[in-house]
Amino acid sequence: MSAVKITPEELTLFSDYIATLSGIHLNSSKGYLLETRLVKMLRETGTDNFTDLYKKIRADISKKLEGQLLDAMTTNETHFFRDSAPFDLLQHKIIPDLIDRRIPGADINKSPLTLKIWSAACSTGQEVYSIGIVLKELLGDTTNHNVTILGTDISDEAVTKASWGYYSPIDIERGLPPAKLNKYFNKENDKWKIDDEIRSLATFKKLNLMNDFSHLGKFDIIFCRNVAIYFPEEKKKLLFQRISKLLKPDGALIIGSTESIATVCPSFESKRYLRSIYYQLKQ
Ligand SMILES: C[S@@+](CC[C@H](N)C(=O)[O-])C[C@H]1O[C@@H](n2cnc3c(N)ncnc32)[C@H](O)[C@@H]1O
Repeated sequence: MSAVKITPEELTLFSDYIATLSGIHLNSSKGYLLETRLVKMLRETGTDNFTDLYKKIRADISKKLEGQLLDAMTTNETHFFRDSAPFDLLQHKIIPDLIDRRIPGADINKSPLTLKIWSAACSTGQEVYSIGIVLKELLGDTTNHNVTILGTDISDEAVTKASWGYYSPIDIERGLPPAKLNKYFNKENDKWKIDDEIRSLATFKKLNLMNDFSHLGKFDIIFCRNVAIYFPEEKKKLLFQRISKLLKPDGALIIGSTESIATVCPSFESKRYLRSIYYQLKQ
């Protein structure tokens, strides 16, 4: 199919709809993004213009097309141990501090550790499994502990891949040191499968951060990285306010390395450890 051009009216139609569905803000210069990312949907729905595609998506009561639109329009860029510093922070500061506070004598061989961790926009799972690897390295046999990692994302495709736990050599080359690959992945045909023990720490769910998530309960550690950058300031503010309500009083929030919530949510205060910043609730 030759490239279908989007008109300014269609761009507004789609941008408003995507913002309502997901919070993702596309500005008026993003017409090319819609044109390129929706080529497949135009083809698969047999549509030759964006107005008709919009009508088809809105008329689809199964919401399948809505899911496909979100899959196409979300940026699922991620990799193992992305930015590395947050995972050093987790391993050397955040979890050891929680162990000190939660376990008598800080002896994890004698008492089980209970930890609930949430990766709030987990994409295809690399963030979740990087956290799982850190837990395994710190705790040894994780089956002696009650540690769980919840990975959520708005994209059906991303959550399915995360849950599957298989990665291509290209995924693996991005961020995973060879020693960790050999220790925590098994080769199956042309894919690498995450170790069963680490897989069993994780649960994945489709979840739109624009919707209520208070039912998830409280967490010790929340990763919300590289997703709020797509939201306008007001939505970002509300998101972090709602996240603050799900963090335990001594819990930690980790955001993306280029992000800041200093002016966004006054209930958090930033803490620095080596090269990293994390957030805790003001006491
Ligand atoms: C760039 S990835 C970040 C993945 C991972 N946190 C990282 O930093 O490597 C952004 C993810 O946010 C998800 N996302 C976008 N809008 C969302 C929303 N409203 N609710 C939940 N997830 C959303 C996308 O599907 C995408 O997988």
